Amino acid sequence: MCSPRVLIFIFFHILAAVFLISADLSEVHVCDASNSNNSYIYCSGRLLAAVNNLSLFEDSKEFVDMPLVYSPNETIAAFDQQFPPNEPITDKANLQMFLGKYFRPPGSELQNCTPTDWIPNPPKLTAIVDPDLRAWALELNGIWKDLCRQIDTRIRDDHEKYSLIYVPEPFIVPGGRFREFYYWDAYWIIKGLLASNMTSTTRSMITNLVDMVDRFGFVPNGGRVYYLQRSQPPLLAGMVYEYYEKTKDKDFMIKVLPTLLKEFNFWHASRTVNVTLANGNGNGTYTVYRYATPSTVPRPEAYQQDTQNAQSMDEQQQRSFYQNMASAAESGWDFSSRWFADKLTLQKIETTQIIPIDLNAFMCWNMDILQYLFEQTGDRDHSDKFLQLRASFRLALNAVFYNATKGAWFDFNMRTGMQNVEFYPHMAVPLFTGCYQLLNQWKAIRLFQYMTDAGAFSYPGGVPTSLVNNTGEQWDFPNGWSPLNHMVIEGLRKSSNPDMQDQAFRIAEKWILGNYRVFAATKHMYEKYNVIGTVPEPGAGGEYEVQEGFGWTNGVILDLLATYGDRIRLPNATTTTTAPNQPGSAATTRPICALLVFSVTILFRSYLFIR
Ligand SMILES: *[C@@H]1O[C@H](CO)[C@@H](O)[C@H](O)[C@H]1NC(C)=O
Ligand SMILES: *[C@@H]1O[C@H](CO)[C@@H](O)[C@H](O)[C@H]1NC(C)=O
Ligand SMILES: *[C@@H]1O[C@H](CO)[C@@H](O)[C@H](O)[C@H]1NC(C)=O
Ligand SMILES: *[C@@H]1O[C@H](CO)[C@@H](O)[C@H](O)[C@H]1NC(C)=O
Ligand SMILES: *[C@@H]1O[C@H](CO)[C@@H](O)[C@H](O)[C@H]1NC(C)=O
Ligand SMILES: *[C@@H]1O[C@H](CO)[C@@H](O)[C@H](O)[C@H]1NC(C)=O
Ligand SMILES: *[C@@H]1O[C@H](CO)[C@@H](O)[C@H](O)[C@H]1NC(C)=O
Ligand SMILES: *[C@@H]1O[C@H](CO)[C@@H](O)[C@H](O)[C@H]1NC(C)=O
Ligand SMILES: *[C@@H]1O[C@H](CO)[C@@H](O)[C@H](O)[C@H]1NC(C)=O
Repeated sequence: MCSPRVLIFIFFHILAAVFLISADLSEVHVCDASNSNNSYIYCSGRLLAAVNNLSLFEDSKEFVDMPLVYSPNETIAAFDQQFPPNEPITDKANLQMFLGKYFRPPGSELQNCTPTDWIPNPPKLTAIVDPDLRAWALELNGIWKDLCRQIDTRIRDDHEKYSLIYVPEPFIVPGGRFREFYYWDAYWIIKGLLASNMTSTTRSMITNLVDMVDRFGFVPNGGRVYYLQRSQPPLLAGMVYEYYEKTKDKDFMIKVLPTLLKEFNFWHASRTVNVTLANGNGNGTYTVYRYATPSTVPRPEAYQQDTQNAQSMDEQQQRSFYQNMASAAESGWDFSSRWFADKLTLQKIETTQIIPIDLNAFMCWNMDILQYLFEQTGDRDHSDKFLQLRASFRLALNAVFYNATKGAWFDFNMRTGMQNVEFYPHMAVPLFTGCYQLLNQWKAIRLFQYMTDAGAFSYPGGVPTSLVNNTGEQWDFPNGWSPLNHMVIEGLRKSSNPDMQDQAFRIAEKWILGNYRVFAATKHMYEKYNVIGTVPEPGAGGEYEVQEGFGWTNGVILDLLATYGDRIRLPNATTTTTAPNQPGSAATTRPICALLVFSVTILFRSYLFIR
């Protein structure tokens, strides 16, 4: 039978589960009077419910993006008069007419703009050797002008008529139904802007996000009031870091540094949980981060899906379901088998029970960046504080997420006390953020081995989001996403191991060629791609149609071409020109060889040092 330690472990988890199930959730809206004057139009209330109940729009986001013609109070007074509170609303045409009179079309409050620092021939892109890839990169560079938006100051002064949150500077939107700024998208958009030499647009985008932290205490998921209870992966510090490294603009960095600290404190105060381990993997209590919004109502921009999916649940189950859905949206991975208790069913979502390795690696990166930036400003106290914080946090990362048997980091599930040992590419985020003992190369190599064995690198279009192919969700197989492929590529490229670097190149090549082929066929860039088959296609699945545009996709391609433009070529040239760059690293090279190479390298280096 089980050892006493295991029994104690099981006992505590049952206790915790009982406690969590019995904890009553109250109704918390996605925005309210504390942060918006039109919450009863866009975040809750009868009008929102009726518009969705009668399915006035296929996409629920349409209605909550529509500006008001009159004030919220006038609007709701007219609505109550026309549709009395005690009568069910069943007349679709009537409600449609009401919207026609009291609302304006979505998107009409955003203005197009031309970035002032845009140039037709950015040096990093004109340096790309393959003429077709170069022409394509310059075409993508042109798309920044289509995706540039700014907000009229009238909206700042009259904000109660808009769900849009006013930001002072121009910015790049993802595209399609994503008409406003998005938080984590901005990191990869900025990587692309920097490849396009657009440092002042980069600074503008950072300034807007900084403004959000100053006003709301954190960066909301996106630029609408209905996002005011949830954030997205914390990459603002990463953006400031990239900008600072490129420009060495110390004045700007010093100006925004207190805001980065404020954002860090938000995550620490509002998104941590203490995990006590008694499984021999670390044996202690660790403070770690999770995605967990307080809201317990349907997401207004996905109201119909959320309410339909929760149809057969009782009220408490519904609140918990809505909270877990919005928390998954906070993770950026909406939705994925990663968050489902049975890895299959959306209704079994349990995001707040899952401690994500990517978020924790991002927080570790925040600590590292804050340490570095404070050091740059000469603030030793803060710098030392973050140095220590990161050193002890790395122990938590090791204890909670690392699995020595598998040789990889995984999400930790608090309900089961187990890690999710399936392959998901976010397991490479510790490599991307350098969040492990860098001298311990063995760890990076074993992760590489795990990913190789799992089949992560065996698809022609790039790295898939998971190997779970029966959920129909967009963050699962067979979709590949730019941010994930980028982090895997960069994680491998920044390692000191030649085989990992070669694999980084090969994924970059696949991702670039896949995107290129779809672009050649459709003239569009997409938010995600199907990685099966040699001619990839736009991705599918999830709760809305695949979107064109597309901010982070373009950003990743431009960044990868800026990195690899000297040796990446379109296929009919690839075989002859890039082969010499990869001696002995045919696709068959196994990670065991990586180990061998590494050991030999170390031996050789020690030999040099001893001498
Ligand atoms: C709501 O409007 C009032 C009056 O214009 C203003 O004082 C208040 O700050 C606004 N509240 C929010 C959360 O914007
Ligand atoms: C709108 O209505 C609410 C509740 O009836 C009231 O408290 C508030 O003062 C009104 N706002 C304006 C700007 O008239
Ligand atoms: C939703 O619409 C149906 C008709 O399609 C109506 O019978 C029902 O009362 C409505 N429910 C609410 C809450 O308005
Ligand atoms: C790139 O941007 C910098 C400012 O950040 C500017 O000084 C430089 O002239 C730009 N390069 C080109 C080719 O326009
Ligand atoms: C975690 O434990 C520490 C130390 O006991 C405590 O200060 C902190 O408030 C706890 N955090 C949470 C989220 O419970
Ligand atoms: C974990 O802690 C228990 C006491 O709480 C101790 O008996 C055990 O040896 C520890 N295990 C490890 C691996 O540190
Ligand atoms: C680590 O992986 C092994 C092998 O798959 C598994 O048995 C074990 O439960 C994992 N550890 C945790 C804490 O989940
Ligand atoms: C997908 O589903 C099929 C049929 O169930 C299965 O054979 C296959 O291994 C699954 N996984 C992947 C990654 O294709
Ligand atoms: C490579 O492909 C291009 C475009 O498809 C074609 O024009 C060219 O002839 C090809 N070159 C070789 C060497 O096959």
